[in-house]
Amino acid sequence: MSQPLSPVAGESRSRPQGPASGTRDGAWWRHAVIYQIYPRSFADADGDGMGDLAGIRARLPHLVDLGVDAVWLSPWYVSPQADAGYDVADYCDIDPVFGTLAEAEQLIAEARQAGIRTIVDLVPNHCSDQHPWFRAAVAAGPGSTERDAFHFRPGRGAHGELPPNDWPSNFGGPAWTRVTGPDGTPEEWYLHMFAPGQPDWNWENPRVATQFDDILVFWLERGVAGFRIDVADNLVKAAGLPDLVDYSGESPQPWADQDGVHAIYRRWRSVLEEHSRPGDEKVFVGELWSDRPERFARYLRADELHTGFNFDFLKVPWQAPAMREVIDATLEAHGPVGAPATWVLSNHDTTRHVTRYGRADTGYGFDRAARHGSPVDLEAGWRRARAGALLTLALPGSTYIYQGDELGLWEVEDIPAELLQDPAVAGTGGADPGRDGCRVPLPWSGGTAPFGFSPDGSANEPWLPQPASWAALTVAAQAADPGSALVLYRTALALRKQLPAFGDGPLDWWPEGGRAQDGVLAFTRGADGKLACIVNQSGQGIRLPDATEVLLASGPLGDGAVLPPDTAVWLRRE
Ligand code: GLC
Repeated sequence: MSQPLSPVAGESRSRPQGPASGTRDGAWWRHAVIYQIYPRSFADADGDGMGDLAGIRARLPHLVDLGVDAVWLSPWYVSPQADAGYDVADYCDIDPVFGTLAEAEQLIAEARQAGIRTIVDLVPNHCSDQHPWFRAAVAAGPGSTERDAFHFRPGRGAHGELPPNDWPSNFGGPAWTRVTGPDGTPEEWYLHMFAPGQPDWNWENPRVATQFDDILVFWLERGVAGFRIDVADNLVKAAGLPDLVDYSGESPQPWADQDGVHAIYRRWRSVLEEHSRPGDEKVFVGELWSDRPERFARYLRADELHTGFNFDFLKVPWQAPAMREVIDATLEAHGPVGAPATWVLSNHDTTRHVTRYGRADTGYGFDRAARHGSPVDLEAGWRRARAGALLTLALPGSTYIYQGDELGLWEVEDIPAELLQDPAVAGTGGADPGRDGCRVPLPWSGGTAPFGFSPDGSANEPWLPQPASWAALTVAAQAADPGSALVLYRTALALRKQLPAFGDGPLDWWPEGGRAQDGVLAFTRGADGKLACIVNQSGQGIRLPDATEVLLASGPLGDGAVLPPDTAVWLRRE
Protein backbone atom coordinates (compact mmCIF):
# COMPACT_ATOMS: atom_id res chain seq x y z
CA MET A 1 0.00 0.00 0.00
CA SER A 2 1.25 3.43 -0.84
CA GLN A 3 1.33 6.26 1.66
CA PRO A 4 1.52 9.95 0.62
CA LEU A 5 4.28 11.96 2.24
CA SER A 6 3.77 15.47 3.46
CA PRO A 7 6.36 18.16 4.13
CA VAL A 8 7.39 18.76 7.72
CA ALA A 9 8.55 22.24 8.61
CA GLY A 10 11.87 22.78 10.30
CA GLU A 11 13.27 19.29 9.81
CA SER A 12 16.00 20.27 7.41
CA ARG A 13 19.44 21.07 8.78
CA SER A 14 22.65 21.54 6.92
CA ARG A 15 26.01 20.44 8.23
CA PRO A 16 29.11 21.54 6.42
CA GLN A 17 31.63 18.71 6.11
CA GLY A 18 35.01 20.37 5.74
CA PRO A 19 36.64 22.16 2.87
CA ALA A 20 35.78 19.91 -0.04
CA SER A 21 32.04 20.58 0.10
CA GLY A 22 30.34 18.91 -2.81
CA THR A 23 33.32 18.78 -5.12
CA ARG A 24 35.91 16.23 -6.10
CA ASP A 25 38.72 18.78 -5.52
CA GLY A 26 39.29 17.72 -1.94
CA ALA A 27 41.75 15.08 -0.85
CA TRP A 28 40.95 11.63 -2.24
CA TRP A 29 40.32 10.08 1.15
CA ARG A 30 37.51 12.50 1.98
CA HIS A 31 35.17 10.74 -0.44
CA ALA A 32 36.91 7.45 -1.32
CA VAL A 33 35.27 4.06 -1.66
CA ILE A 34 37.67 1.67 0.05
CA TYR A 35 37.50 -2.11 -0.34
CA GLN A 36 38.74 -4.34 2.47
CA ILE A 37 40.71 -7.35 1.29
CA TYR A 38 41.08 -10.16 3.80
CA PRO A 39 44.10 -11.83 2.14
CA ARG A 40 43.47 -15.31 3.54
CA SER A 41 40.07 -15.43 1.85
CA PHE A 42 40.28 -13.30 -1.29
CA ALA A 43 41.97 -15.51 -3.91
CA ASP A 44 44.38 -18.44 -3.72
CA ALA A 45 46.76 -18.67 -6.69
CA ASP A 46 49.02 -21.47 -5.48
CA GLY A 47 46.30 -23.93 -4.49
CA ASP A 48 47.19 -24.35 -0.81
CA GLY A 49 43.67 -23.36 0.24
CA MET A 50 44.81 -20.00 1.65
CA GLY A 51 44.54 -16.73 -0.26
CA ASP A 52 47.76 -15.05 -1.36
CA LEU A 53 49.25 -11.98 -3.02
CA ALA A 54 49.47 -13.66 -6.43
CA GLY A 55 45.74 -14.30 -6.11
CA ILE A 56 45.04 -10.66 -5.32
CA ARG A 57 47.16 -9.50 -8.26
CA ALA A 58 45.33 -11.85 -10.60
CA ARG A 59 41.96 -10.56 -9.36
CA LEU A 60 42.73 -6.83 -9.56
CA PRO A 61 40.41 -6.55 -12.61
CA HIS A 62 37.49 -7.35 -10.29
CA LEU A 63 38.32 -4.29 -8.20
CA VAL A 64 38.77 -2.14 -11.29
CA ASP A 65 35.38 -3.28 -12.63
CA LEU A 66 33.84 -2.59 -9.24
CA GLY A 67 35.29 0.92 -9.33
CA VAL A 68 36.89 1.24 -5.90
CA ASP A 69 39.41 3.98 -5.13
CA ALA A 70 41.54 2.09 -2.64
CA VAL A 71 41.99 -1.22 -0.88
CA TRP A 72 42.74 -1.88 2.76
CA LEU A 73 44.54 -5.18 3.23
CA SER A 74 44.24 -7.01 6.53
CA PRO A 75 47.71 -8.07 7.79
CA TRP A 76 50.05 -9.82 5.38
CA TYR A 77 53.13 -9.79 7.62
CA VAL A 78 55.22 -12.69 8.90
CA SER A 79 53.05 -14.30 11.55
CA PRO A 80 52.40 -17.62 13.26
CA GLN A 81 48.71 -16.82 12.49
CA ALA A 82 47.57 -17.20 16.10
CA ASP A 83 45.02 -14.48 15.28
CA ALA A 84 44.90 -14.69 11.47
CA GLY A 85 47.93 -12.43 11.06
CA TYR A 86 47.03 -9.85 13.74
CA ASP A 87 49.95 -11.42 15.62
CA VAL A 88 52.96 -9.96 13.81
CA ALA A 89 56.44 -11.47 14.09
CA ASP A 90 58.05 -9.19 11.47
CA TYR A 91 56.37 -5.93 10.48
CA CYS A 92 58.65 -5.43 7.48
CA ASP A 93 58.24 -8.70 5.61
CA ILE A 94 55.46 -10.81 4.12
CA ASP A 95 54.39 -14.16 5.51
CA PRO A 96 55.44 -16.96 3.13
CA VAL A 97 51.86 -18.25 3.13
CA PHE A 98 50.92 -15.02 1.30
CA GLY A 99 54.06 -14.52 -0.82
CA THR A 100 57.11 -12.29 -0.78
CA LEU A 101 58.00 -8.65 -0.16
CA ALA A 102 58.77 -8.30 -3.87
CA GLU A 103 55.23 -9.44 -4.69
CA ALA A 104 53.80 -6.96 -2.19
CA GLU A 105 55.73 -4.17 -3.93
CA GLN A 106 54.44 -5.36 -7.29
CA LEU A 107 50.89 -5.50 -6.00
CA ILE A 108 51.08 -1.95 -4.63
CA ALA A 109 52.50 -0.70 -7.95
CA GLU A 110 50.05 -2.60 -10.18
CA ALA A 111 47.07 -1.48 -8.14
CA ARG A 112 48.26 2.12 -8.28
CA GLN A 113 48.62 1.86 -12.03
CA ALA A 114 45.03 0.64 -12.16
CA GLY A 115 43.98 3.70 -10.12
CA ILE A 116 43.69 1.89 -6.78
CA ARG A 117 45.58 3.00 -3.69
CA THR A 118 46.78 0.52 -1.05
CA ILE A 119 46.22 0.95 2.68
CA VAL A 120 48.02 -1.58 4.87
CA ASP A 121 47.02 -2.78 8.32
CA LEU A 122 49.30 -1.68 11.12
CA VAL A 123 49.11 -3.58 14.42
CA PRO A 124 50.84 -1.39 17.03
CA ASN A 125 49.10 -2.52 20.22
CA HIS A 126 50.71 -5.94 20.29
CA CYS A 127 53.00 -8.22 18.29
CA SER A 128 53.46 -11.99 18.17
CA ASP A 129 55.09 -14.00 20.93
CA GLN A 130 57.47 -15.03 18.11
CA HIS A 131 58.58 -11.43 17.48
CA PRO A 132 62.36 -11.26 18.12
CA TRP A 133 61.95 -8.52 20.73
CA PHE A 134 59.51 -10.61 22.74
CA ARG A 135 61.67 -13.70 22.55
CA ALA A 136 64.63 -11.62 23.69
CA ALA A 137 62.52 -10.19 26.53
CA VAL A 138 61.53 -13.63 27.80
CA ALA A 139 65.14 -14.79 27.61
CA ALA A 140 66.60 -11.67 29.26
CA GLY A 141 64.65 -12.12 32.50
CA PRO A 142 62.99 -9.83 35.04
CA GLY A 143 64.17 -6.22 35.29
CA SER A 144 65.89 -6.24 31.90
CA THR A 145 65.62 -3.43 29.36
CA GLU A 146 64.31 -6.05 26.91
CA ARG A 147 61.32 -6.76 29.15
CA ASP A 148 60.53 -3.06 29.38
CA ALA A 149 59.32 -3.10 25.75
CA PHE A 150 56.33 -5.15 27.02
CA HIS A 151 54.26 -5.24 30.21
CA PHE A 152 55.91 -7.84 32.43
CA ARG A 153 54.86 -7.95 36.10
CA PRO A 154 55.25 -10.31 39.03
CA GLY A 155 52.07 -12.18 39.89
CA ARG A 156 49.92 -11.67 42.95
CA GLY A 157 49.31 -14.27 45.67
CA ALA A 158 51.81 -15.89 48.02
CA HIS A 159 53.79 -17.43 45.15
CA GLY A 160 52.95 -15.04 42.34
CA GLU A 161 50.45 -17.56 41.08
CA LEU A 162 47.70 -15.00 40.39
CA PRO A 163 47.63 -12.57 37.45
CA PRO A 164 48.97 -9.06 38.26
CA ASN A 165 45.55 -7.45 37.79
CA ASP A 166 41.94 -8.28 36.92
CA TRP A 167 41.96 -7.34 33.23
CA PRO A 168 40.20 -9.81 30.93
CA SER A 169 41.51 -10.76 27.49
CA ASN A 170 39.22 -9.91 24.57
CA PHE A 171 39.38 -13.58 23.63
CA GLY A 172 38.41 -14.99 27.04
CA GLY A 173 40.35 -15.69 30.25
CA PRO A 174 42.77 -13.31 31.96
CA ALA A 175 44.83 -10.83 29.91
CA TRP A 176 48.00 -12.26 31.46
CA THR A 177 50.13 -15.33 30.82
CA ARG A 178 52.97 -16.49 33.05
CA VAL A 179 56.36 -17.33 31.58
CA THR A 180 58.77 -19.87 32.94
CA GLY A 181 62.42 -19.17 33.69
CA PRO A 182 65.33 -21.10 32.13
CA ASP A 183 65.22 -23.61 35.01
CA GLY A 184 61.52 -24.29 34.37
CA THR A 185 60.16 -22.45 37.40
CA PRO A 186 57.14 -20.15 36.90
CA GLU A 187 58.23 -16.56 36.76
CA GLU A 188 56.75 -13.14 35.65
CA TRP A 189 53.50 -12.59 33.77
CA TYR A 190 53.07 -10.58 30.55
CA LEU A 191 50.03 -8.62 29.40
CA HIS A 192 48.07 -9.59 26.28
CA MET A 193 44.71 -7.92 25.71
CA PHE A 194 44.05 -10.48 22.95
CA ALA A 195 45.42 -14.05 22.56
CA PRO A 196 48.41 -15.24 24.65
CA GLY A 197 50.36 -15.18 21.36
CA GLN A 198 49.82 -11.38 21.15
CA PRO A 199 51.89 -9.62 23.86
CA ASP A 200 51.04 -5.91 24.26
CA TRP A 201 53.81 -3.41 23.54
CA ASN A 202 54.73 -0.95 26.28
CA TRP A 203 54.28 2.40 24.57
CA GLU A 204 55.99 4.23 27.46
CA ASN A 205 59.22 2.71 26.13
CA PRO A 206 60.90 5.06 23.60
CA ARG A 207 62.38 2.15 21.62
CA VAL A 208 58.88 0.95 20.85
CA ALA A 209 57.92 4.35 19.44
CA THR A 210 61.08 4.60 17.33
CA GLN A 211 60.52 1.13 15.95
CA PHE A 212 57.06 2.10 14.71
CA ASP A 213 58.37 5.32 13.11
CA ASP A 214 60.68 3.09 11.09
CA ILE A 215 57.85 0.69 10.18
CA LEU A 216 55.72 3.58 8.89
CA VAL A 217 58.58 4.84 6.74
CA PHE A 218 59.37 1.33 5.48
CA TRP A 219 55.89 0.95 3.99
CA LEU A 220 55.56 4.57 2.86
CA GLU A 221 58.74 4.08 0.85
CA ARG A 222 57.07 1.08 -0.79
CA GLY A 223 54.25 3.26 -2.02
CA VAL A 224 51.39 2.59 0.36
CA ALA A 225 48.70 5.28 0.58
CA GLY A 226 48.15 4.86 4.29
CA PHE A 227 47.53 2.71 7.31
CA ARG A 228 44.55 1.17 9.05
CA ILE A 229 45.45 1.18 12.74
CA ASP A 230 44.41 -1.89 14.70
CA VAL A 231 42.73 -1.24 18.10
CA ALA A 232 43.93 2.34 17.81
CA ASP A 233 42.68 3.47 21.22
CA ASN A 234 44.33 0.68 23.26
CA LEU A 235 48.04 1.46 22.91
CA VAL A 236 48.47 3.43 26.14
CA LYS A 237 47.39 1.89 29.44
CA ALA A 238 46.45 3.75 32.64
CA ALA A 239 49.53 4.38 34.80
CA GLY A 240 50.20 1.55 37.23
CA LEU A 241 47.82 -0.82 35.38
CA PRO A 242 45.07 -0.43 38.01
CA ASP A 243 42.46 -3.12 38.53
CA LEU A 244 39.33 -2.59 36.46
CA VAL A 245 37.21 -2.70 39.63
CA ASP A 246 39.17 0.22 41.12
CA TYR A 247 39.41 2.30 37.95
CA SER A 248 37.59 5.62 37.86
CA GLY A 249 39.24 7.40 34.92
CA GLU A 250 37.59 9.38 32.17
CA SER A 251 37.67 6.44 29.74
CA PRO A 252 35.53 3.33 30.24
CA GLN A 253 38.49 1.02 30.91
CA PRO A 254 42.10 1.44 32.06
CA TRP A 255 43.38 -0.09 28.80
CA ALA A 256 41.35 2.08 26.40
CA ASP A 257 41.19 5.68 25.25
CA GLN A 258 43.88 7.05 27.59
CA ASP A 259 44.86 10.67 26.93
CA GLY A 260 48.48 9.71 26.28
CA VAL A 261 47.59 7.86 23.09
CA HIS A 262 47.04 11.12 21.20
CA ALA A 263 50.74 12.02 21.41
CA ILE A 264 51.51 8.86 19.43
CA TYR A 265 49.18 9.88 16.63
CA ARG A 266 50.52 13.43 16.52
CA ARG A 267 54.00 11.98 16.14
CA TRP A 268 52.84 9.57 13.41
CA ARG A 269 51.00 12.32 11.58
CA SER A 270 54.20 14.29 11.20
CA VAL A 271 55.94 11.18 9.81
CA LEU A 272 53.10 10.75 7.34
CA GLU A 273 53.04 14.40 6.29
CA GLU A 274 56.68 14.18 5.30
CA HIS A 275 55.69 11.53 2.76
CA SER A 276 52.47 13.18 1.55
CA ARG A 277 52.31 15.26 -1.61
CA PRO A 278 49.37 17.35 -2.86
CA GLY A 279 47.14 14.93 -4.74
CA ASP A 280 48.96 12.01 -3.15
CA GLU A 281 48.08 12.37 0.49
CA LYS A 282 48.84 9.48 2.82
CA VAL A 283 46.20 8.69 5.41
CA PHE A 284 45.38 6.96 8.66
CA VAL A 285 42.13 5.23 9.47
CA GLY A 286 41.75 4.15 13.08
CA GLU A 287 39.89 1.15 14.42
CA LEU A 288 38.09 2.97 17.24
CA TRP A 289 35.28 1.10 19.00
CA SER A 290 34.30 4.13 21.06
CA ASP A 291 30.61 4.68 21.62
CA ARG A 292 31.15 8.29 22.66
CA PRO A 293 31.26 10.45 19.53
CA GLU A 294 32.99 13.36 21.28
CA ARG A 295 35.85 11.10 22.50
CA PHE A 296 36.01 9.46 19.06
CA ALA A 297 36.37 12.85 17.37
CA ARG A 298 39.46 13.68 19.46
CA TYR A 299 41.38 11.13 17.40
CA LEU A 300 40.42 12.98 14.22
CA ARG A 301 41.82 16.37 15.14
CA ALA A 302 43.79 18.03 12.34
CA ASP A 303 47.18 16.79 13.58
CA GLU A 304 46.12 13.19 14.40
CA LEU A 305 44.28 10.54 12.35
CA HIS A 306 42.45 11.45 9.16
CA THR A 307 39.49 9.13 9.67
CA GLY A 308 38.12 6.45 12.00
CA PHE A 309 35.75 3.57 11.40
CA ASN A 310 32.18 4.50 12.23
CA PHE A 311 31.15 1.42 14.21
CA ASP A 312 28.12 3.16 15.72
CA PHE A 313 26.68 3.03 12.23
CA LEU A 314 27.65 -0.62 11.79
CA LYS A 315 25.95 -1.51 15.07
CA VAL A 316 22.70 0.38 14.58
CA PRO A 317 19.57 -1.64 13.77
CA TRP A 318 17.82 -1.31 10.41
CA GLN A 319 15.37 1.31 11.69
CA ALA A 320 15.08 4.82 10.33
CA PRO A 321 14.88 6.76 13.63
CA ALA A 322 17.91 4.96 15.10
CA MET A 323 19.88 5.29 11.87
CA ARG A 324 19.06 8.96 11.58
CA GLU A 325 20.20 9.51 15.15
CA VAL A 326 23.56 7.87 14.42
CA ILE A 327 23.99 9.78 11.17
CA ASP A 328 23.29 13.08 12.97
CA ALA A 329 25.58 12.24 15.88
CA THR A 330 28.32 11.22 13.44
CA LEU A 331 28.13 14.42 11.42
CA GLU A 332 27.87 16.57 14.52
CA ALA A 333 30.99 14.97 16.02
CA HIS A 334 33.04 15.14 12.82
CA GLY A 335 32.07 18.71 11.84
CA PRO A 336 34.09 20.61 14.46
CA VAL A 337 37.32 18.66 13.78
CA GLY A 338 36.89 18.97 9.99
CA ALA A 339 37.23 15.22 9.41
CA PRO A 340 35.09 13.30 6.94
CA ALA A 341 32.87 10.55 8.33
CA THR A 342 33.23 6.92 7.26
CA TRP A 343 30.37 4.49 6.62
CA VAL A 344 30.87 0.81 7.15
CA LEU A 345 28.42 -2.09 7.34
CA SER A 346 30.68 -5.14 7.74
CA ASN A 347 34.27 -6.20 8.27
CA HIS A 348 36.29 -9.30 9.15
CA ASP A 349 35.30 -9.07 12.83
CA THR A 350 31.55 -8.61 12.58
CA THR A 351 28.55 -10.68 11.48
CA ARG A 352 27.91 -10.03 7.78
CA HIS A 353 25.13 -7.48 7.43
CA VAL A 354 22.99 -9.61 5.06
CA THR A 355 22.58 -11.95 8.04
CA ARG A 356 22.20 -9.20 10.65
CA TYR A 357 19.58 -7.40 8.63
CA GLY A 358 17.68 -10.66 8.15
CA ARG A 359 17.25 -11.30 11.86
CA ALA A 360 14.55 -10.09 14.23
CA ASP A 361 17.21 -7.97 15.98
CA THR A 362 18.98 -6.23 13.10
CA GLY A 363 21.69 -4.54 15.20
CA TYR A 364 25.23 -5.77 15.80
CA GLY A 365 26.43 -6.68 19.27
CA PHE A 366 29.53 -8.31 20.72
CA ASP A 367 27.26 -10.88 22.36
CA ARG A 368 27.79 -13.07 19.31
CA ALA A 369 26.80 -16.25 21.14
CA ALA A 370 23.31 -14.90 21.91
CA ARG A 371 22.69 -13.96 18.26
CA HIS A 372 24.48 -16.83 16.53
CA GLY A 373 22.10 -19.21 14.80
CA SER A 374 18.97 -17.12 15.42
CA PRO A 375 16.58 -17.31 12.44
CA VAL A 376 17.58 -15.32 9.35
CA ASP A 377 15.20 -14.15 6.62
CA LEU A 378 17.77 -14.04 3.82
CA GLU A 379 15.45 -12.33 1.36
CA ALA A 380 14.88 -9.47 3.81
CA GLY A 381 18.61 -9.40 4.58
CA TRP A 382 19.48 -9.10 0.90
CA ARG A 383 16.91 -6.40 0.23
CA ARG A 384 18.11 -4.34 3.18
CA ALA A 385 21.78 -4.90 2.36
CA ARG A 386 21.18 -3.58 -1.16
CA ALA A 387 19.34 -0.56 0.19
CA GLY A 388 22.10 -0.13 2.79
CA ALA A 389 24.69 -0.05 0.01
CA LEU A 390 22.95 2.90 -1.68
CA LEU A 391 22.57 4.59 1.71
CA THR A 392 26.24 4.31 2.68
CA LEU A 393 27.38 5.42 -0.77
CA ALA A 394 25.16 8.51 -0.56
CA LEU A 395 26.21 9.71 2.90
CA PRO A 396 28.91 12.40 3.31
CA GLY A 397 32.44 11.02 3.54
CA SER A 398 34.14 7.77 2.59
CA THR A 399 32.58 4.32 2.39
CA TYR A 400 34.07 0.91 3.15
CA ILE A 401 33.10 -2.30 1.37
CA TYR A 402 34.17 -5.57 2.98
CA GLN A 403 35.07 -8.25 0.41
CA GLY A 404 31.93 -10.20 -0.43
CA ASP A 405 29.56 -7.34 0.45
CA GLU A 406 29.35 -6.72 -3.28
CA LEU A 407 28.18 -10.34 -3.72
CA GLY A 408 25.62 -10.29 -0.92
CA LEU A 409 27.47 -13.00 1.02
CA TRP A 410 25.94 -14.02 4.30
CA GLU A 411 27.50 -15.13 7.59
CA VAL A 412 28.28 -18.86 7.45
CA GLU A 413 27.03 -20.16 10.77
CA ASP A 414 27.41 -23.90 10.26
CA ILE A 415 31.17 -24.30 9.93
CA PRO A 416 32.12 -27.57 11.67
CA ALA A 417 33.57 -26.79 15.10
CA GLU A 418 36.86 -28.57 14.37
CA LEU A 419 37.52 -26.21 11.42
CA LEU A 420 37.03 -22.97 13.35
CA GLN A 421 40.27 -20.99 13.68
CA ASP A 422 39.35 -17.77 15.49
CA PRO A 423 41.26 -17.75 18.82
CA ALA A 424 38.14 -16.33 20.46
CA VAL A 425 36.51 -19.74 20.06
CA ALA A 426 39.22 -21.71 21.87
CA GLY A 427 39.83 -18.87 24.36
CA THR A 428 36.24 -19.07 25.56
CA GLY A 429 35.99 -22.85 25.47
CA GLY A 430 33.63 -22.58 22.50
CA ALA A 431 31.21 -20.19 24.22
CA ASP A 432 32.01 -17.53 21.58
CA PRO A 433 31.15 -18.80 18.06
CA GLY A 434 33.92 -16.54 16.76
CA ARG A 435 34.42 -14.58 13.57
CA ASP A 436 35.20 -17.31 11.03
CA GLY A 437 31.68 -17.08 9.57
CA CYS A 438 32.45 -13.74 7.88
CA ARG A 439 35.89 -14.90 6.69
CA VAL A 440 34.86 -17.73 4.35
CA PRO A 441 36.78 -17.61 1.02
CA LEU A 442 35.11 -15.71 -1.83
CA PRO A 443 33.24 -17.56 -4.60
CA TRP A 444 34.52 -16.41 -8.00
CA SER A 445 33.12 -18.84 -10.57
CA GLY A 446 31.88 -22.34 -11.26
CA GLY A 447 29.21 -24.54 -9.75
CA THR A 448 31.06 -26.26 -6.92
CA ALA A 449 33.63 -25.37 -4.25
CA PRO A 450 36.26 -23.95 -4.37
CA PHE A 451 34.33 -21.73 -6.83
CA GLY A 452 37.53 -20.47 -8.45
CA PHE A 453 38.96 -19.33 -5.11
CA SER A 454 41.72 -21.91 -5.63
CA PRO A 455 42.73 -23.24 -9.07
CA ASP A 456 40.78 -26.28 -10.28
CA GLY A 457 42.28 -29.53 -9.03
CA SER A 458 44.12 -27.92 -6.10
CA ALA A 459 45.44 -30.36 -3.54
CA ASN A 460 44.03 -28.41 -0.58
CA GLU A 461 40.48 -27.32 0.09
CA PRO A 462 39.82 -23.68 1.07
CA TRP A 463 40.85 -23.05 4.69
CA LEU A 464 37.17 -22.63 5.57
CA PRO A 465 34.43 -24.50 3.68
CA GLN A 466 32.20 -22.52 1.30
CA PRO A 467 28.43 -23.19 1.27
CA ALA A 468 27.33 -25.12 -1.84
CA SER A 469 24.61 -22.52 -2.44
CA TRP A 470 27.25 -19.86 -3.07
CA ALA A 471 27.25 -21.23 -6.64
CA ALA A 472 24.53 -18.65 -7.29
CA LEU A 473 26.60 -15.85 -5.76
CA THR A 474 29.87 -16.17 -7.67
CA VAL A 475 31.34 -13.11 -9.36
CA ALA A 476 30.89 -14.82 -12.73
CA ALA A 477 27.22 -15.64 -12.09
CA GLN A 478 26.40 -12.16 -10.84
CA ALA A 479 28.32 -10.33 -13.58
CA ALA A 480 25.91 -11.93 -16.07
CA ASP A 481 22.78 -10.94 -14.10
CA PRO A 482 21.65 -7.30 -14.40
CA GLY A 483 19.60 -7.66 -11.21
CA SER A 484 22.49 -8.91 -9.09
CA ALA A 485 24.11 -7.29 -6.06
CA LEU A 486 27.38 -7.08 -7.99
CA VAL A 487 25.84 -5.13 -10.86
CA LEU A 488 24.10 -2.83 -8.37
CA TYR A 489 27.44 -2.09 -6.65
CA ARG A 490 29.22 -1.53 -9.98
CA THR A 491 26.48 0.80 -11.20
CA ALA A 492 26.35 2.70 -7.92
CA LEU A 493 30.11 3.22 -7.78
CA ALA A 494 30.25 4.34 -11.41
CA LEU A 495 27.37 6.77 -10.86
CA ARG A 496 28.86 8.08 -7.64
CA LYS A 497 32.03 9.00 -9.53
CA GLN A 498 29.93 11.15 -11.86
CA LEU A 499 28.00 12.79 -9.03
CA PRO A 500 30.47 14.82 -6.98
CA ALA A 501 27.72 15.89 -4.57
CA PHE A 502 27.83 12.37 -3.13
CA GLY A 503 30.89 11.78 -0.99
CA ASP A 504 32.16 14.76 0.98
CA GLY A 505 29.92 17.80 1.37
CA PRO A 506 26.67 18.96 2.98
CA LEU A 507 23.68 16.77 3.81
CA ASP A 508 20.18 18.12 4.44
CA TRP A 509 17.31 16.04 5.71
CA TRP A 510 14.55 16.30 3.18
CA PRO A 511 11.10 16.71 4.64
CA GLU A 512 9.30 16.11 1.34
CA GLY A 513 11.14 12.80 0.99
CA GLY A 514 9.83 11.37 4.23
CA ARG A 515 10.42 11.38 7.95
CA ALA A 516 12.53 9.10 10.10
CA GLN A 517 9.76 8.66 12.65
CA ASP A 518 7.62 7.27 9.82
CA GLY A 519 10.37 4.85 8.86
CA VAL A 520 11.88 6.85 6.01
CA LEU A 521 15.41 8.21 5.67
CA ALA A 522 15.43 10.98 3.09
CA PHE A 523 18.14 13.52 2.47
CA THR A 524 19.54 15.72 -0.24
CA ARG A 525 23.20 16.18 -1.04
CA GLY A 526 25.29 18.99 -2.42
CA ALA A 527 24.97 22.74 -2.06
CA ASP A 528 22.04 22.91 -4.49
CA GLY A 529 20.25 19.92 -2.95
CA LYS A 530 19.54 18.48 -6.37
CA LEU A 531 20.59 14.95 -5.51
CA ALA A 532 18.62 12.92 -3.02
CA CYS A 533 18.56 9.50 -1.43
CA ILE A 534 15.46 7.91 0.09
CA VAL A 535 15.54 4.69 2.07
CA ASN A 536 12.20 3.15 2.89
CA GLN A 537 12.34 1.28 6.20
CA SER A 538 8.65 1.82 6.95
CA GLY A 539 7.38 -1.65 6.12
CA GLN A 540 5.00 -0.36 3.45
CA GLY A 541 5.31 1.20 0.00
CA ILE A 542 5.69 4.99 -0.18
CA ARG A 543 5.09 7.27 -3.13
CA LEU A 544 8.18 8.97 -4.48
CA PRO A 545 8.00 12.77 -4.39
CA ASP A 546 6.89 14.55 -7.59
CA ALA A 547 9.38 16.22 -9.89
CA THR A 548 12.11 13.69 -9.34
CA GLU A 549 14.03 11.45 -11.69
CA VAL A 550 15.13 8.04 -10.43
CA LEU A 551 18.87 7.59 -11.06
CA LEU A 552 19.25 4.23 -9.36
CA ALA A 553 17.11 1.96 -7.20
CA SER A 554 18.26 -0.90 -4.99
CA GLY A 555 15.34 -3.06 -6.17
CA PRO A 556 12.31 -2.98 -8.45
CA LEU A 557 9.94 -0.03 -7.95
CA GLY A 558 6.19 -0.52 -7.72
CA ASP A 559 3.69 0.85 -10.24
CA GLY A 560 3.06 4.58 -10.00
CA ALA A 561 6.51 5.48 -8.60
CA VAL A 562 6.11 3.52 -5.42
CA LEU A 563 9.21 2.78 -3.37
CA PRO A 564 8.69 -0.65 -1.80
CA PRO A 565 9.78 -1.47 1.76
CA ASP A 566 13.50 -2.02 2.36
CA THR A 567 14.36 -0.31 -0.89
CA ALA A 568 16.49 2.78 -1.53
CA VAL A 569 16.64 5.19 -4.46
CA TRP A 570 18.95 7.88 -5.68
CA LEU A 571 16.98 10.73 -7.19
CA ARG A 572 17.65 13.89 -9.13
CA ARG A 573 15.27 16.69 -8.19
CA GLU A 574 14.05 19.04 -10.88
C1 GLC B 1 41.29 -5.89 15.73
C2 GLC B 1 41.22 -6.75 14.50
C3 GLC B 1 40.86 -8.14 14.92
C4 GLC B 1 41.95 -8.66 15.81
C5 GLC B 1 42.20 -7.73 16.99
C6 GLC B 1 43.51 -8.01 17.64
O1 GLC B 1 40.08 -5.78 16.38
O2 GLC B 1 40.31 -6.19 13.60
O3 GLC B 1 40.67 -9.00 13.83
O4 GLC B 1 41.61 -9.93 16.31
O5 GLC B 1 42.28 -6.38 16.58
O6 GLC B 1 44.56 -7.64 16.80
